[in-house]
Order: sequence, then structure tokens, then C-alpha cells
Amino acid sequence: MLITIPDLLAPEQVAEARAILESAEWVDGRVTAGHQSARAKDNEQIPEGHPAAREVGEMILRALGANPLFLSAALPLRIFPPLFNRYSGGQNFGTHVDNAIRQVPGSSQRIRTDLSATLFFEDPSSYEGGELCVEDTYGVHRVKLPAGSLVLYPSTSLHHVTPVTRGTRLCSFFWLQSMIRDDGRRSLLFDLDLGIQVLNRELRGNDAAEKTSVQLTGVYHNLVRQWAEM
Ligand code: NI
Repeated sequence: MLITIPDLLAPEQVAEARAILESAEWVDGRVTAGHQSARAKDNEQIPEGHPAAREVGEMILRALGANPLFLSAALPLRIFPPLFNRYSGGQNFGTHVDNAIRQVPGSSQRIRTDLSATLFFEDPSSYEGGELCVEDTYGVHRVKLPAGSLVLYPSTSLHHVTPVTRGTRLCSFFWLQSMIRDDGRRSLLFDLDLGIQVLNRELRGNDAAEKTSVQLTGVYHNLVRQWAEM
């Protein structure tokens, strides 16, 4: 399932982040690629652990922690420190799959990549191409979001970024390990949670509906209890 988190960052935060990122030094993006994806990858990145990456990364992590839609959709256990890339002059990233396990730099912590995330920093009309294309059994989904918005997609999927033929595409990307490993189960919980929220808004003192809401909330938490891995 692909999930869009609109306006994760406010326009002022996007502007602040861009100023910090533009002043950093950028290197060849193949530094974080595995053997196979190094052949497909052509972009630039800010080195992992760079102060600019850390500063904007913390801004992103704070925003994620305060975003109910993200928390409900991802049920995150561990989030990899956000990385940053940019594409221009025809650069692209061919079809690949993300590594299953990522070691957090400077720590012994490893993250199983259940979900991949891309956060967009540029106005989509300011560059040509640069679409994130994610393949699943329903076909290829093309994603190019407004600045400040994020897409979450299963890390199990093949994906690529189309050539940027005008302007610059600037994004953050990272992975997360979810408490719910299976995408299908996580989707069920997300749907149930959204349904309960709608029900709760419509209760209007209806006792039977209130009891149903409590029951469904119980089902939600009991499914999390059965399925969660920590
Ligand atoms: Ni990837």
C-alpha cells in the first residue's frame, strides 16, 4: 500500500531545511548503494552523519512523531536517520529493491526495512521528471508530491526514479522498521483505525454506537497485541 502524508513539514520548515541542505557539501550517491543498485544509481547525496543531515533529519523525525496519520499508517518501531539526495541534469535511479537490513551509522542498531519513505522538498513544477515509480501487483504508481509531503511504500517493492531533465529534485529518503512487519496486516490495522476515528466523530450520544466503538477499539488493540514485534 502506498500512503501519502500531506504537509508533513510546513512551508517555513521546508524553506529552512532547503537553506541548510543547499549549504552542505554533496557527494556521489553510490556511497550508500549495495553492489547491484550502485549500477542503477546516479545522483548526489549528503554524507551520512553530516551536521546538515542531522539537523534536518531531527526536524523530520520530530514532525513524524507528531503526525497521527504517519503513526497510524506506519506503526513505527525504529526509524533510520533521514538521508538526502538530489537529481539534476538527467540523473536518475534505475529499477532496484532496497536492502533488507540497514545498520544505523555509528551504532550497533540494525533496522529491518519494512517501509521506505520519500519526502519532497521542491515545488513539482520547478523540475521535469524525477517521479518515484513504485511497482506492485496493481501496476506502476508514479509519485511526485508537493514540497513538504511524504510518501510511504513497502520496501519489498521494485522502484525507480525517472531522469530529471530540468531543474533539481531534492528529497529526503529513509526506511523504517514497523511493529507490524506484514504490509497486509498493517493495512488492515490502518483501515480499522481510520474507521474507528470516523465512527467516533459521528457518535452524537448514541449509546449503541459508543459501545460498538469501544468494541472495535478493543479489536484494534488486541490485533496489535497479537501481531506486534518489538
Ligand atoms: Ni530505493
